[in-house]
Amino acid sequence: MTLTDKPIPRAAGWHILGAGAMGCLWACAMARQDERQAMGSPQVSLLLRDQEALAGYPGQVICSDMEHPLSIPAVAIAGADDQTPLQIHNLLVTTKAQDTLTAVASVANHLSTTSRIVLLQNGLKIQQQLTRLYGAERVFCVSTSHGAWLKAPFDVVHAGNGDAWLGQLDATGTCSRARLQSLRQLLPAEQLNVHIDHDIGARLWRKLAINCAINALTVIHDCRNGELLQIPEARQSLSRLCDEICKVLQAIPEAPPMGDLWTQVQHVLHVTAANVSSTLQDIRRGRHSEIDHLNGYLCELASAQHMPCPVNRAVLQQMRVLESRAIQAHSPTGSERPRQSSPHRSTDRQ
Ligand SMILES: NC(=O)c1ccc[n+]([C@@H]2O[C@H](COP(=O)([O-])OP(=O)(O)OC[C@H]3O[C@@H](n4cnc5c(N)ncnc54)[C@H](OP(=O)(O)O)[C@@H]3O)[C@@H](O)[C@H]2O)c1
Repeated sequence: MTLTDKPIPRAAGWHILGAGAMGCLWACAMARQDERQAMGSPQVSLLLRDQEALAGYPGQVICSDMEHPLSIPAVAIAGADDQTPLQIHNLLVTTKAQDTLTAVASVANHLSTTSRIVLLQNGLKIQQQLTRLYGAERVFCVSTSHGAWLKAPFDVVHAGNGDAWLGQLDATGTCSRARLQSLRQLLPAEQLNVHIDHDIGARLWRKLAINCAINALTVIHDCRNGELLQIPEARQSLSRLCDEICKVLQAIPEAPPMGDLWTQVQHVLHVTAANVSSTLQDIRRGRHSEIDHLNGYLCELASAQHMPCPVNRAVLQQMRVLESRAIQAHSPTGSERPRQSSPHRSTDRQ
């Protein structure tokens, strides 16, 4: 890991929305970069949902990569009123896909027309929606192969070192190149291996296709990634899903050619054989999964093209049943839900 010789000039710091596994990982990397560059107090703050969440925050985040906990300021979104004006210049959103629209809306009053919004979600629907809502110039997407899970609130394990690719969905022209370069300089590029991808859309489409093939099936068969290739029924479903996903994406003008998806999926399953997919982790923890942003979104895309997609629909139906059972099983009162991740080595690391 190399350090730059000179401090990188920062117009303003970062606010991280979603202080879960990824949020804490990125917050620590940013705070450590500030520490090393002798920026004084950290230029990164956590945005917590409300005063109750703020009261439960110990003031520090622990990361398995770091020798000591890092003091990172936090602000409660509800209650960040005129007495404590909150100005967000750079927003990194690390909520789950299904929580993202609501979470960003909750801080919208604190964004200006020049604020940058960086999205780190699985899938592609949220990135497309927010790009339309807030403008192609201000919205950035990150696709990452880092893996992280929470041992306890604000205590993150960096389980798999990986890379992160930064881009914009509408990345035409030199302006976008300049925007990406200047944003990368504000990110912990060395610590988290952040690269610029001028075709992030293609990367996100491919990851969506692969996740649609793998994730739900790991829940249906309650197995690790690699086992999908060994269970005959799962292998058959996988191959049928791959065919159908390719057909749907071929009909979407913005989607890149998928090539041989079946071979790519098999490769991912070999490389991540021991991993528990993020969707299966969510189900095992009794939490909502991102399925509506994976196979759910694929079914929406197919409907918009008037195409049938019976295999994805069947998988989605099965997932919904399994998900609601898991949520019920973990939440007899319907009000509690676990806040920690399970200690699995992560996740969908393509
Ligand atoms: N973890 C990984 O290894 C990994 C790898 C690649 C990509 N990703 C992607 O990164 C995204 C985040 O994943 P994650 O694993 O970090 O999820 P996570 O641990 O569940 O963290 C999400 C955080 O967002 C918070 N949140 C939700 N709604 C909020 C709101 N309205 N205001 C403030 N905070 C809110 C949640 O708080 P509560 O718990 O209180 O709801 C939680 O702390 C997902 O899209 C995932 O697919 C994750």
